Amino acid sequence: MGTQRPNEGASGTGRRALLGAAVLGAGGAVLGMAGSARADGARPGGGQEGQGGHGGLKSLPKPTIVGHRGASGYRPEHTFGSYQLALDLGADIVEAGDLVPTKDGHLVCRHEPEIGGTTDVADHPEFADRKKTKLLDGVSTTGWFTEDFTLAELKTLRAVERIPANRPHNTLYNGRWEIPTFEEVLKWQDEQTRERGKQVWIYPELKHPTYFRKQGLPLEERVAELLRRHRKDRRTSPVIIQSFEPTSIERLDKLVDNPLVVLLSSADSRPWDFVETGDPRTVADLVKPAGLREIASYAQGIGPTLDLVIPRDAKGNLTQPTALVRDAHQAGLILHPWTMRNENPFLPANFRKGTDADAYGDVFGAYKVYFATGIDGVFTDQPDTGVLAREDFVGD
Ligand code: G3P
Ligand code: CA
Repeated sequence: MGTQRPNEGASGTGRRALLGAAVLGAGGAVLGMAGSARADGARPGGGQEGQGGHGGLKSLPKPTIVGHRGASGYRPEHTFGSYQLALDLGADIVEAGDLVPTKDGHLVCRHEPEIGGTTDVADHPEFADRKKTKLLDGVSTTGWFTEDFTLAELKTLRAVERIPANRPHNTLYNGRWEIPTFEEVLKWQDEQTRERGKQVWIYPELKHPTYFRKQGLPLEERVAELLRRHRKDRRTSPVIIQSFEPTSIERLDKLVDNPLVVLLSSADSRPWDFVETGDPRTVADLVKPAGLREIASYAQGIGPTLDLVIPRDAKGNLTQPTALVRDAHQAGLILHPWTMRNENPFLPANFRKGTDADAYGDVFGAYKVYFATGIDGVFTDQPDTGVLAREDFVGD
């Protein structure tokens, strides 16, 4: 089986019941103390140390607010509408994007290669015969896959809201934006930096790198080539690169000097590259001090699920923080957990308000508890909420 994404679908009995089909069926398919010294020497709540991203990671405010798939709480994810709004709402970094390849070798921004739930491809009869069932990281997946389309074909599609039951208002924007390419994102980053007079950061993720390499569509070399071409392949470049596959990050470490982050899913999951190479370790092994020291030999940070920072009990309530923040910082790694979302189904049970799937819970209360662990930043679908929560935290 491929890695599970506990903060993406459902974990815990109560949470699963609340989510129902709304989230589970969409798309076919997150320690130290406040004010403590940081692994990279930056101040909590610290501002930009000048323009141009020359300060590297240290120039980012803390805790850093990362716009997850843009401002995907308000707009269909991975569109320029979503990326633009994330900047307007104050995100320090925009996750632009999750990267998958096309048949003709371009990198496009989609959360997954399967695009049935995030585009209008099902409404295109000319692509009806592209619908397939594939084994994606050990999981049988049915739909339309980016690697079966040329870029020109994908550009005829339009993005739609992935979880309309949780985000009905976002459907207003269905059909408005096309699928961005990574090259367009790199140019957009420069344009936005000029227009806003402030360095715009991006945080692309390589999706399923082993799966794509086996198909002759390796991601790392393509990403490195584009970063080099745009002169964004340096340690101080405003581009952080992330992946759930540690060997992909190791490979990137040999190709570029950008800050690198290893994503970590649930403790019992196993990175798919480990499955393919016969490495028996699970995420539970990687979050031990020895695992973290190894990661620190080729990466600057980790992106754990929030549940690795503060586990939930059987009812979905937050328990006590683990030692992960302390151990990661001791290894010299920063932590950017994922994903904070305003809506009830995604919050710990003790921060929900009512049971409506599209209603907001006490997300500020949840932020306060997570920030107190000492995390360096967080991915969020609603960057404005994250920025306000940081103001609350830094003001405490
Ligand atoms: O990249 C941080 C977070 O986005 C990882 O989960 O599945 O949303 O890409 P996912
Ligand atoms: Ca991602």
